[in-house]
Amino acid sequence: MDKFVINGGKFLSGKVTIGGAKNASLALMPATILASGISRLSNTPDLRDVTTMRRLLETMGIEISSAEQTMTINTASINSFEAPYEHVKKMRASIYVLGPLVARFGKAKVSLPGGCAWGPRPVNLHVEGIRRLGAEIELEAGYIIAKAKRLHGARVLFDISSVGATGNVMMAAVLAKGTTLIENAAQEPEIVQLSEFLITMGAKIHGVGTGRLEIEGVDELHSADITTIPDRIEAGTFLIAGAIAGKRGGSIRLEKCNPHHIGALIIKLEDAGATVKTGTDWVELSPMEKIAPINATTAIYPGFPTDMQAQWIALMSLAGGTSIVTDTVYFDRFMHVPELVRLGANITVKENIATVVGVRSLAGAKVMSTDLRASASLVLAGLVAEGTTEVLRVYHIDRGYESMEKKLQALGADIRREQGEEF
Ligand code: EPU
Repeated sequence: MDKFVINGGKFLSGKVTIGGAKNASLALMPATILASGISRLSNTPDLRDVTTMRRLLETMGIEISSAEQTMTINTASINSFEAPYEHVKKMRASIYVLGPLVARFGKAKVSLPGGCAWGPRPVNLHVEGIRRLGAEIELEAGYIIAKAKRLHGARVLFDISSVGATGNVMMAAVLAKGTTLIENAAQEPEIVQLSEFLITMGAKIHGVGTGRLEIEGVDELHSADITTIPDRIEAGTFLIAGAIAGKRGGSIRLEKCNPHHIGALIIKLEDAGATVKTGTDWVELSPMEKIAPINATTAIYPGFPTDMQAQWIALMSLAGGTSIVTDTVYFDRFMHVPELVRLGANITVKENIATVVGVRSLAGAKVMSTDLRASASLVLAGLVAEGTTEVLRVYHIDRGYESMEKKLQALGADIRREQGEEF
């Protein structure tokens, strides 16, 4: 298993080009199941999770090729309606094939994802939503078995706003007979993009980007092409790389990103003392003299994203005072905290609230990646820790950051990938 070896304290400045959004790709790829034919997804990032979704679709007989960030997906040859445990256990987003399969073929067998490194992460809202559209769903030997002659429109109210359940139910509803209303729908940019792709395929969706989606089912969709939106969490992570470098940084400019999608983070960074300039598809952060302690509470979009919580804690660990970071989306998502403490941070967690007492400096150590965003926070801390930090098990990072070490090297970081020890 690879590790990153980082010699901290190098001057960071320069440009980073942001790649396509992982969480948009993971929704767009299964959406192609809804029509027979060839779809092209450009700006698809080369990530481990995208490869996992590709392998899953390929096991269903779908033909996929990629060149220069464009993924070409031919669904004409689909011949299986099953998402096996071997794939789903690697990546929960595999559940996204459930809605499209039942909607188009009237059958699906999808493994239940099981637990996750930071808690149970249930899929009840996906199942209940698709059930309301008329699917018969049973749970059998760890699998969701769904059947329907043809789905019908229904009112679906999510108790919790869920990105995945909104996407799944929306994909099921576009081919249902009649109108579906999704209340308390997720409004994340990745869901907006999925809606736009479905509309390009011929779907009728009203209220895109709001919490109330009205979907008039159609008899058939056709294949379509789309350009994947930039990854807002990759963008946010690199902005924090600039911020955490503090006085040891020049300006960091992100290119090919969407500043609107990281609005909440930009406001927090400004509160913490950063000067941030934005253009249509770029963001520039000037060096920060000092980091002010700023509280953050995660929330659904456009709130502060849970996927930036770990990186924010890394930044706050070097702030000039105490800050409180609360995660209201995932209560147990604090696996990075004990590892940051190994680097010298002063953080305590009680329930879903982290109290971060800023320290003057961090010191390099060996730390363990536990999940994608936790690992990103450890890399950020390693960039400024004195001495050498080894971040073990970086396969977690490869799930969601394309060539992270190369992009950081281009900014001046001393970071390299090495073969790590096995556990
Ligand atoms: N929830 C339920 N039941 C469900 C589904 C969700 O109770 O059936 C709860 C969750 O436990 C959580 C809340 O609803 O408390 C929101 O979860 P959501 O369903 O929105 O998350 P998700 O769709 O599983 C996506 C991203 C995550 C990101 C969350 C929140 C993808 C593939 N994943 O997950 O991204 O953290 O939305 O924004 O889109 C990441 O990229 O590192 C990542 C984990």
